[in-house]
Amino acid sequence: MKHDKELIYLDHAATSWPKPPEVLEAVMKAMQEEAANPGRGSHQMAVKASRVLFDTRKQLAGLFKIKNPNDIAFSLNTTGALNLAIKGYLKTGDHVIATAVEHNSVRRPLEYLKRTRGIEVAYIETDSEGHLDASRVREAIRPNTTLIVANHSSNLLGSILPIADLGDIARSHNLRLLVDAAQSAGLLDIDVRGMGIDMLAFPGHKGLLGPQGTGGLYISPEVDLEPHMHGGTGSQSEAPDQPSIRPDRYEAGTQNTPGLGGLRAGVAFVREQSVSRIYEHEWQLSQLMIEGLSRINGVRLLGPHAGQPRTGIVSFLVGQADPSETAFILDQHYGIAVRSGFHCTPQAHQCAGTSDTGAVRASVGCFTTKEEVEALVSAVREISLHY
Ligand SMILES: Cc1ncc(COP(=O)(O)O)c(C=O)c1O
Repeated sequence: MKHDKELIYLDHAATSWPKPPEVLEAVMKAMQEEAANPGRGSHQMAVKASRVLFDTRKQLAGLFKIKNPNDIAFSLNTTGALNLAIKGYLKTGDHVIATAVEHNSVRRPLEYLKRTRGIEVAYIETDSEGHLDASRVREAIRPNTTLIVANHSSNLLGSILPIADLGDIARSHNLRLLVDAAQSAGLLDIDVRGMGIDMLAFPGHKGLLGPQGTGGLYISPEVDLEPHMHGGTGSQSEAPDQPSIRPDRYEAGTQNTPGLGGLRAGVAFVREQSVSRIYEHEWQLSQLMIEGLSRINGVRLLGPHAGQPRTGIVSFLVGQADPSETAFILDQHYGIAVRSGFHCTPQAHQCAGTSDTGAVRASVGCFTTKEEVEALVSAVREISLHY
């Protein structure tokens, strides 16, 4: 998996780059040939645009083992999907169990509903490497618990959470499981039925290699969410209420046809390469990075230790250096793009003991090479000499 580029891009956990050429071509094709309004009108180009959306849903359904592609509602990003799930599902008096490694796109909607709808939330801590003991989730269940929300992989630590165990717990207690697949879609096998996932929020712009402005939510047929957007769908136009048919119920307004055309090509690429092959590639690179960085005096690594399963995220600190300074030097002097700060996940920093400092996060993608990881290690070694 090679791609010509000069910049060393190690910020795939935020947005993957570059995209496969097929994705760029699909976006252009949608802009040029499938450019009418999807789901509205029956002229030939409108039908082509509708086809783009349906084919994208079909690709995603194949990837996540979803029976009915219409159980996928498109969103702008993972955040939009999580907001629809959380605000559309929870009611006054509900108790939710979440983990301490949730992203703010889970935590903030939950905290908002605590204030506005009187829901209650328990955040279950992980160990310092980001591993969750599923039995602690079981112990936290109360009579009014209705939902478990869990990150599939921590966007700070790269740890992988035991989703199938949480699915078993949810099923045996008649609760719903919402999974944030921001860091796992396209990288870890996801089988919504096999893993007991009732709702799956995913981005199009990270591991699925699609454009920004794409993502979605799988909603099991047994779950009915209150839509958070109301408006035109091109269906049941005479009715004052949002239609009950899917996906229209959750997709008001014109969809992002070019973006979703690109996403279709991204998912097709991922499926062709195979998720397990991409995981193996990224895991090997993360191990190379851990091995190299751990040999540098003063470097502190976060997340699972060498040899353990993890996604392609490696966060670290260089001596007493401010992580934003390290990231700045990597960018300006070495042309290496990483992300510093708190990564929208302050509680995960608490678990890792980095609440005061934040960290530098390097994250690999399916086009990252061994040489690029070696360049990062060598740059960090040079930087470390000054701290
Ligand atoms: C775990 C996790 N959840 C949610 C998000 C939000 O994703 P998006 O930018 O697609 O809304 C991110 C973004 O990095 C993430 O890492």
